[in-house]
Amino acid sequence: MRQSSLVVVAMRLPIDDSVAPDGACEWRRSPGGLVSALHPLLRNTPATWVGWAGGSGPAPSLPDVDGVHMHTVPLSLEDLRDHYEGFANATLWPLYHDAVEQPEHHRRWWEAYQRVNQRYAEATAEVAEPGAIVWVQDYHLQLVPGLLRALRPDLRIGYFLHVPFPPPELFMQLPRRAELLHGMLGADLVGFQRPQAAHNFAQLATKVLGVAATDRRIAVDDRVVRIGAFPVSIDTAEMSALAASAEVAERAERFRRDLGEPERVILSVDRMDYTKGIEQRLTAYSELLASGHVKVRDTVLVQVAVPSRERVGQYQILRERVEREVGRINGEFGRVGEPAIHYLTQPFDRAELAALYRVADVMAVTPLRDGMNLVAKEYVAARVDDTGALLLSEFAGAATELSQAYLVNPHDLEGLKQGLLSALQADPADVTTRMRAMREHLHRHDITAWARSYLSALDETGSLVDRLPAT
Ligand code: ADP
Ligand code: G6P
Repeated sequence: MRQSSLVVVAMRLPIDDSVAPDGACEWRRSPGGLVSALHPLLRNTPATWVGWAGGSGPAPSLPDVDGVHMHTVPLSLEDLRDHYEGFANATLWPLYHDAVEQPEHHRRWWEAYQRVNQRYAEATAEVAEPGAIVWVQDYHLQLVPGLLRALRPDLRIGYFLHVPFPPPELFMQLPRRAELLHGMLGADLVGFQRPQAAHNFAQLATKVLGVAATDRRIAVDDRVVRIGAFPVSIDTAEMSALAASAEVAERAERFRRDLGEPERVILSVDRMDYTKGIEQRLTAYSELLASGHVKVRDTVLVQVAVPSRERVGQYQILRERVEREVGRINGEFGRVGEPAIHYLTQPFDRAELAALYRVADVMAVTPLRDGMNLVAKEYVAARVDDTGALLLSEFAGAATELSQAYLVNPHDLEGLKQGLLSALQADPADVTTRMRAMREHLHRHDITAWARSYLSALDETGSLVDRLPAT
C-alpha cells in the first residue's frame, strides 16, 4: 500500500465517474464548493485523496490524477441511502442550514453514518505515512477525526467544515450531539468558515461535553484542540485569466446576442438546493415583472440550477416547484422568442461559466443560508473590467468578506425586490468602486492563502506549507 505525507479525506473523490478507455482520469469540477476549492491546491502536490468514486460496486482502482493518488472507499446502495442521502443530507444538511427544511432523525441513518465514517477512518489509516498530515473535509465525515486518532495517534489531524455550524439551539436537537462533537474534537485543528461557527462550537463543547472552551482552544482529555475561522476561497488569478481570455470574451458576446441583446442581464448559478433561495428569488422577479418595474425585453434572468441529490425527497419537491414556477412566469410574462427566464439545468465547463459571469450585469446570489458561496467569489474574479453588481445574501459566508456587495435579506421579499432594483439601476461609478474593492480583497485572499493559513496552523513544522505555491 502506497503511503503519503499529506492525505485529504472527503466523501467524494474529485474525479469523473467515467474513466476514459486509455485509463486516464480527470478532475471533476463538480458543481459543489469543496472540489472547486481543493482542486487548485492539490494539483501537483504529492498527496493521497481518500473518497468514494461514485457507484455502489466494489472499489475501482484508479490511476493518479496530476500526481495525486486516488484511494477509493466502496459504498453500498444501503450506505448511500442511509449515510449520504439520509444522515448527511436529510439530517445534518438541513439542520446546519437553519433548518430551512425539517431535519429527519432515524436510528438506521445514524448506524450507517458511524459505519461509513469508520470505513473512511480505516482507509485513511492505511495510506497515511507515520506522522502524516491528514485533512478531513465536511459534514459527511464528522466522526473520522476521533476514529482516526484512536487508530493512529501519530497523525496530525485537521478537520474543516465547509457548511455553517449551527447555533446551540439547533444543534441540541441532534439525538447524537455528544458523539458528533467528540468526533470533531479528535482533530488537532477544527476549521470553520466564520468566527460565529467557531463560537457556536465552543459553546456546545462546554454545554454538551462539559469541557473548558474558548473561541480558539478547547481542552479535551489531555490535549488542546485549536479552533478557528478560515474562510475558503477560489483560484482568483485562474478565474480572472480565464475571464480575460479572447475565447471567453467572444463566448460572452455570443451569449448576449443569443439572449436578444437586452439592456440588463441578471444571472444566478446554483446547485438545485433549498438553501439557495431560488424560489424566493423567482417570486421577487415575478412581482417586479407584474408591477412593470422590470420589462422582459430590457431585462432577462438567466437561472442556472444544476440538479443535486436527486434521490432525496426534499430536493425532488424543490425541483418540481421551481420548474412549475419558471413555467408559470415564462407563460405569463414571456413573449414568442423572448422568455422572461432562461432556465438551464446543465453543468457548464469553466470557460462557459466565466463567459456567463462576464455577460451578467447583475449577479444574484441570495441563499437563505450558505457556508461560503464560491459562485459569488467567482463572479467577482471574472469581472476583469471592474463592472458588474453583486447582489448578495447577508446569510452567505461570503458576505462577511464581500461587504461592498449589494447586501439583502432573502427572507424579506420587499427587501429582495428593492435590492434587485438597486443593483439593476446602480450608478456605474458606485458599481465600479464596490467591484474594485471586492476584487482587491479576493486577490489577497485566494485559495492558496486559505490553504496556507489553515495548513500552517495545523502543521507547526511548516514543512508542508513550504511545498505550496506562493500567494
Ligand atoms: P455549493 O458548494 O453549495 O454547491 P458554492 O457556490 O460554494 O455552492 O459552489 C458551487 C461550485 O459549483 C462553484 O465552483 C460553481 O462554479 C460550481 N457550479 C455551480 N453550478 C454549476 C454548473 N451548472 N456547472 C458547472 N459548475 C457549476
Ligand atoms: C457542498 C458541500 C460539499 C458537497 C457539494 C456538492 O459544497 O459542502 O461537501 O460535495 O455541496 O454536493 P454533493 O451532494 O453532490 O456532493
